[in-house]
Amino acid sequence: MPFSAEYLQELSERNPIEEVVGEYVPLTKRSGQNLFGLCPFHSEKTPSFSVSPGKGIYHCFGCGKGGSVINFIMEIERLSFPEAVEFLARRAGMPLPEREADPSRPKRERLLALNREAARFFYSQLSTPGGEAAREYMRRRRISQRTATNFGLGFAPESWDALTLAMKAAGYTERELYDAGLVKRGRRGGVYDAFRNRLMFPVIDVRGNVVAFSGRVLGDGEPKYLNSPDTPVFSKSHNLFGLNLAKKSIAGYIILVEGNIDVVSLHQAGFDSAVASLGTSLTAEQARLLSRYAKQVVLCYDADAAGRKASQRAIPILEKLELAVRVVTVPGSKDPDEFIKASGAEAFRALIEDSENGVEYRLQAAASGYDLNSDSGKVGYLKEAAQILSALPDPVAREVYSMRVAEQCSVAEDAVRDAVKQAYRRRAATARRRQERMDTRAEQMAQPRDLGIRYSDPRSAAAEEGVISLLQASPELFRGGAGPKPESFTSPELRHIYESMLSLIERGLDVGAAALGETLSLEETNLYTRIAQRPVSAANARAALADYIKRIGAAPRSAEDVDLNAFAKAKQETKGYGGDSHG
Ligand code: UTP
Ligand code: MN
Repeated sequence: MPFSAEYLQELSERNPIEEVVGEYVPLTKRSGQNLFGLCPFHSEKTPSFSVSPGKGIYHCFGCGKGGSVINFIMEIERLSFPEAVEFLARRAGMPLPEREADPSRPKRERLLALNREAARFFYSQLSTPGGEAAREYMRRRRISQRTATNFGLGFAPESWDALTLAMKAAGYTERELYDAGLVKRGRRGGVYDAFRNRLMFPVIDVRGNVVAFSGRVLGDGEPKYLNSPDTPVFSKSHNLFGLNLAKKSIAGYIILVEGNIDVVSLHQAGFDSAVASLGTSLTAEQARLLSRYAKQVVLCYDADAAGRKASQRAIPILEKLELAVRVVTVPGSKDPDEFIKASGAEAFRALIEDSENGVEYRLQAAASGYDLNSDSGKVGYLKEAAQILSALPDPVAREVYSMRVAEQCSVAEDAVRDAVKQAYRRRAATARRRQERMDTRAEQMAQPRDLGIRYSDPRSAAAEEGVISLLQASPELFRGGAGPKPESFTSPELRHIYESMLSLIERGLDVGAAALGETLSLEETNLYTRIAQRPVSAANARAALADYIKRIGAAPRSAEDVDLNAFAKAKQETKGYGGDSHG
């Protein structure tokens, strides 16, 4: 039976490719965002087998094999597609879709439907007389009705069984309520509502499913927040609060904060890309999830020591995924929520803008690792600082900060300047060599002969490949039919890849090797992977697309070419609970 694209996507998220591949191949050498190792599929002495954690693909420059984590398992374990899926599902402890021939809906779907129903219940409680305490609390925290609806906030009444009774009336069993984490078992075997007298924050995943709840006491009390346990539909370390909304932001960066309240407050103030990590310290899975929606992260944790420490821990996790990290600390307030209320949205925007290059923060972080009163400490710090400053593209900025570093460890300005210059030259040389290597590689790649594919029109095919990598990197450019028509492609393989990707996007899904793996042939998957792993510059994407369309000799797709109904429907579905809760 075919697996849904959603399932395959989740499967690949829960089986990070670098982890799975790493169990078979020692991956060591880092280059850009890729890991390298010796190819397990052909014999070689120098590593040409690369894994891109961000893109979820592997690719061998030597033998041309490549694909998603599923393809890797198929190849290395010699399994069929469904067998590989089962293999990986077991590895990640995920249930298999539709394994038992149960006529009732699969369990996950039942739990998701139950959660949605519960969210509706909590939401409706907000406007009952019993909800006055919650309304009063929201007023105190200055959360508007509109914001409450946007997030689907609700109120769990002060009762042991209000939710249980309502959900039973809607056809759910105690067992299901228990599995969803909505009730707890009492000593005599009965159940009671887990969330009582709390302001409820539904946790909604990027597909719009209500997967969990976080409930805050109205005022002071312990515990301050009560969270759903991990359930078959929820894993705390794989979700971020607010991402369902933030993923639609066009800000270009995600603001990562500590508290649910901070998220709500920032969205209300117009910062629609704020998310929080559900009370855990940021996990690699959460970072990976983030990286699908923005390449920049603004860290704005609480101003206390714990927040600073959490920031320091989060930075390397984010940077590992090639995310540009900026750090904002709110002066004179404990957290972003308090800051916005005290100083306003414009002041917060200024903080974000000031954090642009993050140099100060990095220097400070580097300095904290050395004793600047000792000579060896100074030397170590200078080396690290020179590295940091050499990455600044602006010569004036390099100069200014060099002076600051010289002052900081009382050495001559020239010494710092020279060290930075040297590091800068080394960096430029490395970049040049890498570019040259990539250029030769690109030439060799012009005909994918090793995959048994020959382009009839290599010039057009190059542009067709370009379209595919743009669609991979910036799908938003293709909204409303802005890409070329698939019929104008000269290569049938590229056309099939392009069409399959468009169809995923028009259904509101993410394009990934895993989801494509089922429609594409093995050769096409290899070809897709080869194209997807190439770096694309986001800066000129729009101009590049126009240029490709011209080179393919295609008319752009018109609105009629896009199944607008499907597109609208997909959007509706991902809108989340808040949008239709009145209906
Ligand atoms: P905070 O204590 O900073 O909460 O915890 P907050 O959301 O900013 O709320 P206010 O502004 O103080 O009212 C940060 C996050 O840590 C998790 C929650 O996700 C919370 O949003 N947390 C906190 C828990 O899971 N349990 C707790 O008992 C406390
Ligand atoms: Mn807080």
